[in-house]
Amino acid sequence: MDNPKDLTIVYEAALLNWPSPATALYLDIGFGNGVSTLHFAKAEPQAAFLAIDVHTPGVGDLLSELHTQEITNVRVMETDAIAVLENMIASNSLAGVYTLFPDPWQKARHHKRRIVQQSILDLMHSRIALGGFWHIATDWAHYSQAITELFAQPDNQMQWKGGETNRPDRALTRYEQRALDEGRLVSDFRFIKH
Ligand SMILES: C[S@@+](CC[C@H](N)C(=O)[O-])C[C@H]1O[C@@H](n2cnc3c(N)ncnc32)[C@H](O)[C@@H]1O
Repeated sequence: MDNPKDLTIVYEAALLNWPSPATALYLDIGFGNGVSTLHFAKAEPQAAFLAIDVHTPGVGDLLSELHTQEITNVRVMETDAIAVLENMIASNSLAGVYTLFPDPWQKARHHKRRIVQQSILDLMHSRIALGGFWHIATDWAHYSQAITELFAQPDNQMQWKGGETNRPDRALTRYEQRALDEGRLVSDFRFIKH
């Protein structure tokens, strides 16, 4: 692997043609510095992981680690994950989506910017395959409560099963460590499309 840029995918409004041949595809939305993506990709070398974030330094960190560790089942996108879901991901195609510690947007007037909200939940449902999952972790009690309430809506309950779950085998990120140091409780949720 000579050039880490080979591992990037540039946004375009056309369906993704990776992985080829097709294999289970997972998204890591808002991967930060990428340690969770690296962990998942190494644990499941037969699967494909598309890591998406808008934060340039993190993109560099992840590309550098992929290169150093010669990991080939990850592609990295530096763009808005919602646009990717809307325009590059086929319906009923994803094996799973990780959204670990999404920005909490603390102020009530900013809640509409949160990733976990009804319109994006509908989008996720359309892109995730039957039996696939959306895994969410948060360290903010008010976001955790909002997630619980959102998925408890009758229409959502019919479309998803699952809820709060044990912490899966995932890397401890700097972000999560800081939350724990500051005494915040971390909640993991796994919702399965059905
Ligand atoms: C609080 S950080 C958590 C990072 C990482 N998942 C972790 O656990 O350390 C949230 C990340 O989501 C990214 N992000 C926010 N909105 C995004 C979007 N629409 N598309 C892609 N990434 C986004 C931010 O740039 C940031 O890196």
